[in-house]
Amino acid sequence: MSDGKLPKLSEIAAFTEYMATGWDSPRRTAPLVAGAAGAAAAHRARLAAALPGQSVLVSAGRAPVRANDTHYDFRVDSDFYWLTGCAVENAVAVVRDGGCTLYLPPPAGPGEPEFFTDATYGELWVGPSPSLAEWAAALGCEVRPLADLDGEPQPPSDEVRRVLAELRMIKDEWEVAQLREAVDRTVEGFAAVVGEIPAAVAGGGERWLQGTFDRYARTHGNGPGYATIVGSGAHAPTLHWVRCDGPVLPDEMLLLDMGVETRGHYTADVTRTFPASGRFSEAQRRVHDLVEKAHRAGLAAVAPGRRFTDFHHAAMEVIARGLDDWGLLPVSVDEALSERGQHHRRWLVCGIGHHLGLDVHDCAKSRPEAYQGAAMAPGMVLTVEPGLYFHAHDTTLPPELRGIGVRIEDDLLVTADGAENLSASLPLDASGLEIWMKNNKENA
Ligand code: GLY
Ligand code: MN
Ligand code: MN
Repeated sequence: MSDGKLPKLSEIAAFTEYMATGWDSPRRTAPLVAGAAGAAAAHRARLAAALPGQSVLVSAGRAPVRANDTHYDFRVDSDFYWLTGCAVENAVAVVRDGGCTLYLPPPAGPGEPEFFTDATYGELWVGPSPSLAEWAAALGCEVRPLADLDGEPQPPSDEVRRVLAELRMIKDEWEVAQLREAVDRTVEGFAAVVGEIPAAVAGGGERWLQGTFDRYARTHGNGPGYATIVGSGAHAPTLHWVRCDGPVLPDEMLLLDMGVETRGHYTADVTRTFPASGRFSEAQRRVHDLVEKAHRAGLAAVAPGRRFTDFHHAAMEVIARGLDDWGLLPVSVDEALSERGQHHRRWLVCGIGHHLGLDVHDCAKSRPEAYQGAAMAPGMVLTVEPGLYFHAHDTTLPPELRGIGVRIEDDLLVTADGAENLSASLPLDASGLEIWMKNNKENA
């Protein structure tokens, strides 16, 4: 040891031998979410009908490197999960005609040098894993060691990703249950955040509320389904304010866009906006009322057979007319609403909603004619989320509107005869939000 080097444990024969003995078998149950394997089998059957006789290879993916030998959190590839119900890092699935062969990194347990040398798979480093046989029994698939796979797995083609995205648009019963769970936990997470507003105003700031929701999401699901947005005051109009590093100002609007991802990897995506003080000012209420009106028009346009873009147009028309009433449009409402106008979108540059599921922006690899251009159908789950984003430095606005940002976002299930608002337990209107805030602050 005089040269300063540490001994390499795997090169010490006596140590390796010693480490191979004296271990009881740890718990090795496959970590499957109830119902996930059955749902995945049904998904494979749907893929088989779309691509008969075709082999599709999908990888679970790997955690991205953060630096050197440390990594960001692993999140399984959504198509992989949809087809297998399994969320093992670095796994590969070959799916064909409804069947599936899963290639898994075998656990490195006692008796193998990797048991104590391999920081990726060694059980002393990462904890015990189920055997391949246990995975096979749990998933109802053939399971083989990753080393049996010939060569580097190639990612699925764009065409296969498209087919999967379009199949994933219609959620089955198990997926709808997952999404209900995601939304219910998210609504509870909103209540938890409201209870922490005094601590945020007292100094914790946006970070405190972000941390509150993320902890709630981690405890009751896998974690947040996307980067939590907590925007106070001038940050509220910033569409994706994921920096969450500002103070929470009591009299300013607070925009919360948050979603819990369930253990089964489905996420909610819900937004509410209200002043941290719990009392809307006249200007804040005016903006909120207009967004609420647009939101209700959007909600009413979600039904089977209606075009996906119908709710977008319904909400946009309300927004354009409201802005015109306030004298903000530089052209007529008709011109603004025309394809060559869109002036109202200065204050709403994003879309009004998207499919929701395993990904927050689910099914995004679909063809436009199967997404925006298609009719809504029972089993689709989507968001409706109009807003108005008046930036503090927008000189076209009267001073009282500058720095107010409002979004209202709900998650809807298209049903046989309309739509169900899964997040309806959160109030939509300013007065309802005031009461809801008061109750949650008192219960905190
Ligand atoms: N939270 C991202 C979105 O609303 O689409
Ligand atoms: Mn959102
Ligand atoms: Mn959204």
